[in-house]
Amino acid sequence: MSDERSLEPDARQRAAWLEQFGGFALAQLDALSSAPAVGIVGAAGNAIARELSAPIPEGPLPGGAAEILARLERAVTASLNAPGPGYMAYVPGGGLYATALADLISNCVNRYTGQSSAAPALCQLEDDVLRWLASSFGYDYDDGARGLLTTGGSMANFSAIAAARHARFGDSGDYSRALAYVSTQSHHCVAKSLRLAGIPIKNVRVIATDAAFRMDPEALARQVRADRAAGGEPFLVVAAAGTTNTGAIDPMPALAELCGRERLWLHVDAAYGGAFVLCDEGRRRLAGIARAESIAFDPHKGMFLPYGTGCLLVRDGAALRAVHHVGADYLQDFDAHDRRGEPPNPAEYGPELSRGFRGLRLWLPLMLHGAGAFRRALAEKLALAERAHEGLSRRIEAGAPLELVARPQLSALAFRLARAPGESLASWGARNTALLDAINRRARVFLSSTNLPTHERDGQVLTLRVCVLSFRSHARHIDQLLEDLDAALLETRAADRA
Ligand SMILES: Cc1ncc(COP(=O)(O)O)c(C=O)c1O
Repeated sequence: MSDERSLEPDARQRAAWLEQFGGFALAQLDALSSAPAVGIVGAAGNAIARELSAPIPEGPLPGGAAEILARLERAVTASLNAPGPGYMAYVPGGGLYATALADLISNCVNRYTGQSSAAPALCQLEDDVLRWLASSFGYDYDDGARGLLTTGGSMANFSAIAAARHARFGDSGDYSRALAYVSTQSHHCVAKSLRLAGIPIKNVRVIATDAAFRMDPEALARQVRADRAAGGEPFLVVAAAGTTNTGAIDPMPALAELCGRERLWLHVDAAYGGAFVLCDEGRRRLAGIARAESIAFDPHKGMFLPYGTGCLLVRDGAALRAVHHVGADYLQDFDAHDRRGEPPNPAEYGPELSRGFRGLRLWLPLMLHGAGAFRRALAEKLALAERAHEGLSRRIEAGAPLELVARPQLSALAFRLARAPGESLASWGARNTALLDAINRRARVFLSSTNLPTHERDGQVLTLRVCVLSFRSHARHIDQLLEDLDAALLETRAADRA
């Protein structure tokens, strides 16, 4: 065996590590179906974090790979079990094995894909994926559309917002009158991106939603008119195709109509919901999305990749390039090549320069499984959310003290306990928290909560939400969720009576 202190392990050492560390990774996957849906988090998780924290050694850790893996295994126990089949909290994704292999390969070959002349064929494979994704959403690469793989939805939204701002205001640097429009249900990364793009938060108008949590186009039109009359410069509407709270789809045809009339850039944050365009039913529900100027969506959500990949698609790719492309002398050698037929330079379409072969994270699973496997899994998720909704409806009809707050528009839904007559928001919220805890304590499924308005419109209350998006979640996991809800209802009622 080579000296472990050398940064270049020999072939035997590499193979030994692959077996040891790869074996650990595979064992983690094998354990997923039987692992509790909730890992150790909170105070106990923090205690594990403190227990494991140790100084960085000057030489290899005594105990070698075995000791390292023991520590890693303990660290993994102190986390939410996000790839597990019962994980229906926040926005799941699952984590495809094929992408884990892609990461291993791209990290071993470690090619630079910021400039396509540095790795034209690899950039071409990435571009093939982007071209296919763009056409799945209704954009046309041959007509100038372009795409970019980012680290996630937040970065995709950020680049879209920067492009919209640049298209209107160029390098003027004066955004004091620039106004952007979001809804009450918009993801907080949109406001963060607007701020990072130099738009003051006070210039972000929050538009009301209807009873199904969709942006109200008439309220938007009124606000835009009022803002123009007051001397503001509206430039951007950020709609959602699948809000995080309830999966609501903003009315894209009506918003596109308005944005066209008012010369506003329509960006759709489809980080959660966008991948559903890949299945027939999802495409029907997302009708009109191609009328937006730009779309952000997250392959690490709806295409089930492990965390680390978002995607931005822009109808006029030149507008995306205009804000991101700044040349540099030391890159001139790349331009000296014959660039005819070369795929676009990723670095010219996004904020990053150095990047690994991100495209392999999508290309490899698409080659190994085919696009059809994704279409089928996404159609299944829509059906599973309906199954959960039907199960809840049946319980309510049979007298369960629950209310449905949002029926699924995609694969998310929201429900809570019915409010007792005259009950305060605090007491109602506490009962919902107890119900959520009682479901999660059973450790077969894991749900999360949000705050949503009450029917009486006297504020918001803690509401449980279910988001089904992992390729590992199937009908039996929805049935477990419903069984655990029944048990949790009995338990919390007994506690209320005591
Ligand atoms: C609608 C929506 N937009 C944006 C984001 C942010 O995406 P990311 O976490 O990949 O940065 C999320 C994350 O859940 C989301 O649900």
